[in-house]
Amino acid sequence: MRAIYADKPSSVDPLSALCIGEQPEPADSDTDRVTVTVQAAALNHHDLWTLRGAGMSVDRYPVILGSEASGIAEDGAEVVAGAMIVEPRWSHDPVRDPARTLLGENLPGTFAERVSVPRHALAPKPAWLSHEEAACLSGTWLTAYRMLFTKSGLRPGETMLVQGAGGGVSTALIRLGRAAGFRVWVTGRDASKRAKAEAIGAHATFAVGRPLPEPVDAVMESVGRATWSHSLRSLRPGGTIVVTGATPGADANAHLNRVFWSELRIIGSTSGTLEEFRRLCHFMHHHNLRPDIAEVLPFTDARQGFERLLASDVFGKTVFTWQ
Ligand SMILES: NC(=O)c1ccc[n+]([C@@H]2O[C@H](COP(=O)([O-])OP(=O)(O)OC[C@H]3O[C@@H](n4cnc5c(N)ncnc54)[C@H](OP(=O)(O)O)[C@@H]3O)[C@@H](O)[C@H]2O)c1
Repeated sequence: MRAIYADKPSSVDPLSALCIGEQPEPADSDTDRVTVTVQAAALNHHDLWTLRGAGMSVDRYPVILGSEASGIAEDGAEVVAGAMIVEPRWSHDPVRDPARTLLGENLPGTFAERVSVPRHALAPKPAWLSHEEAACLSGTWLTAYRMLFTKSGLRPGETMLVQGAGGGVSTALIRLGRAAGFRVWVTGRDASKRAKAEAIGAHATFAVGRPLPEPVDAVMESVGRATWSHSLRSLRPGGTIVVTGATPGADANAHLNRVFWSELRIIGSTSGTLEEFRRLCHFMHHHNLRPDIAEVLPFTDARQGFERLLASDVFGKTVFTWQ
């Protein structure tokens, strides 16, 4: 079958590892696994990390990329695949499962005509969303949902700062935060993305690093080194920073004096549970929220999408389809 895969990793030139070609079909389905015919799959930074070899041993390559998708199961059901995958019998918080993984990590990913998914990790596709929209939910929007509603402790009327204007996670945070009744402030590197952030729900936007008019209750941090010190400086005493990513790098100055003096709370957040996914879908339906899609590309033009993601030349999600 046709697939997009990483041949062997390259930390210096990740796109040199990107291949579009034939890969083996998934193993036959059984009681535990379902083969899903992929209709649409969304591109994530995780795919760039895999091209770079981050967190993967070289002997695991080639790896079919893609960690979230919407498709059709063998029984004809429309399904969404890609939340964090845990052992079927694991009953605790998924992030504590030592065997937890993602599609496109320890399992072949969603950038293929077909993908095998553990049965317990599939969710029904929301009928009111297209496959392209639904493909953005199980990784990106679920991550944003958990950051805001499970981890941040924000209450309606409080102020949240989103670092980064046009990212997949950022745009989801803006729309979810606005719908939840938070005051949504956003930083962004360029004026056109800041204007778009305001158009989708931000109450105010600021150039990256600029002092804010007043301290915020919580910061949603998916950027990392480039915005970390501004995030800490922007919080009120006792405020919370929820961290989910470190795109340009993680080795930020810890500013420990600020952390203890203002009793700041630094909370990590990763992906989400299927229960959070169900709640996310209800919330989106109730508030008529849809993911911002920068571009839908045929899988054959995937390199273009990777290049734009690498250059941060997107607002929202890039989605691939086989049609
Ligand atoms: N832990 C998890 O479960 C999880 C899930 C999803 C994503 N993530 C991670 O979260 C991060 C963001 O994911 P994403 O899908 O939103 O990626 P994305 O679509 O590429 O967005 C990247 C964001 O970072 C901002 N940014 C990048 N470099 C910057 C810099 N030097 N200075 C200021 N802002 C910068 C961009 O701002 P502008 O748009 O303003 O240019 C953009 O908003 C990635 O590292 C990803 O791996 C983690």
